Amino acid sequence: MTAHKVRFEPVGVEISANEDETVLQAAFRQGVSLMHGCKEGQCASCKSLLVEGDLEMEKYSTFALADYEREQGYVLLCRSHAYSDLTVELLNYDEEMILSGLPVQTVQTIVSAIEPLTHDIKRLVLQLVEPKELRFRAGQYVDIRIPGSEEHRSYSMANTPTANDHLEFVLKVFPGGRFSSLLDESFVGTALEVTGPYGSCVLRENSARDVVLIGGGAGMAPLWSLLNDIAERGLKRRVTFYYGARARRDLFYLDKLEELQARLAEFRFIPALSEPFPEEHWEGETGLITEVVAQTLSAGSEVDVYLCGPAPMIDAALPVLARKGIREERILFDKFTPTGKVE
Ligand SMILES: Cc1cc2nc3c(=O)[nH]c(=O)nc-3n(C[C@H](O)[C@H](O)[C@H](O)COP(=O)(O)OP(=O)(O)OC[C@H]3O[C@@H](n4cnc5c(N)ncnc54)[C@H](O)[C@@H]3O)c2cc1C
Ligand code: FES
Repeated sequence: MTAHKVRFEPVGVEISANEDETVLQAAFRQGVSLMHGCKEGQCASCKSLLVEGDLEMEKYSTFALADYEREQGYVLLCRSHAYSDLTVELLNYDEEMILSGLPVQTVQTIVSAIEPLTHDIKRLVLQLVEPKELRFRAGQYVDIRIPGSEEHRSYSMANTPTANDHLEFVLKVFPGGRFSSLLDESFVGTALEVTGPYGSCVLRENSARDVVLIGGGAGMAPLWSLLNDIAERGLKRRVTFYYGARARRDLFYLDKLEELQARLAEFRFIPALSEPFPEEHWEGETGLITEVVAQTLSAGSEVDVYLCGPAPMIDAALPVLARKGIREERILFDKFTPTGKVE
């Protein structure tokens, strides 16, 4: 196997990359946490500038990397294979995160529980079989291989890293969804291959700022992990959790959220319903969660914001947060983008 050195500037970090793996995979393998999103050449999160060396790229979307950018030397690290030593200039990176990553592993698991949380959201628990533990940080996700195929789907852990012999997830079921529609009782006992951890939507360790969590639907998963991690570690940070759902029947974990109140220094849970049923007699906030954030979050707040959920929610939240004067580097997010085809 031919391996080449890849040096990332301006951070001065070096890794080794085999020709049969992408530069992003090589970095993950060595615990170097580069910015990424889809890992499939579609989102541009890993776009970087090739300063020196030869590489080849697998198929990617020209939405992520336009032809004129390619001509200027820009590359997508999730599609790039090194064929000589490389020097790459990172465009997006987080210095605190880059060397604090955990190595990505592939583990064998077995489905140990599935239970409904709402009419279309389920809790999935996977027991680790081999190896028996997977280290991750609260807020991260893994890729689960769809049985009998080479395709995978990404899911964020909902449990905290202290219990690393199993992984818990909160999944929205899409009718006909290749993975999510498999989640009925007969799926318990199925062997599943899981690769991870991925994602940089993790708690900023060196920050004492208040925490704002914003999520919707199954976006509860990573935020639930972050919330419980803050409680388990006894961190004295004020937490506000904005959560959007359609109707009262789409809310879950309300009792557990109330219990968390006693375990966190200061905690506010602000649910908002966009389409409450009249018979639900909802008296809380109504409207899209991003509108509620716009109305209630104080401008100029010294906060770290963690955002998880459907891409349109995140796209709507980012300008709201910018208008509130929250600096870009204090906003971390994972978009739950559907796995799509490369155009
Ligand atoms: C980083 C990341 C983390 C994620 N974490 C979670 C998580 O914790 N919980 C969770 O439930 N999901 C999460 N997702 C989404 C998840 O990976 C799948 O995309 C989703 O479960 C659908 O997969 P499927 O195989 O069931 O459906 P597919 O077979 O991929 O799609 C079937 C149909 O369902 C519809 N559909 C699928 N996904 C969406 C969507 N996001 N919005 C609207 N319609 C859609 C479309 O109509 C599609 O044609 C995450 C995604 C990413 C990228
Ligand atoms: S992670 Fe490379 S394009 Fe999305």
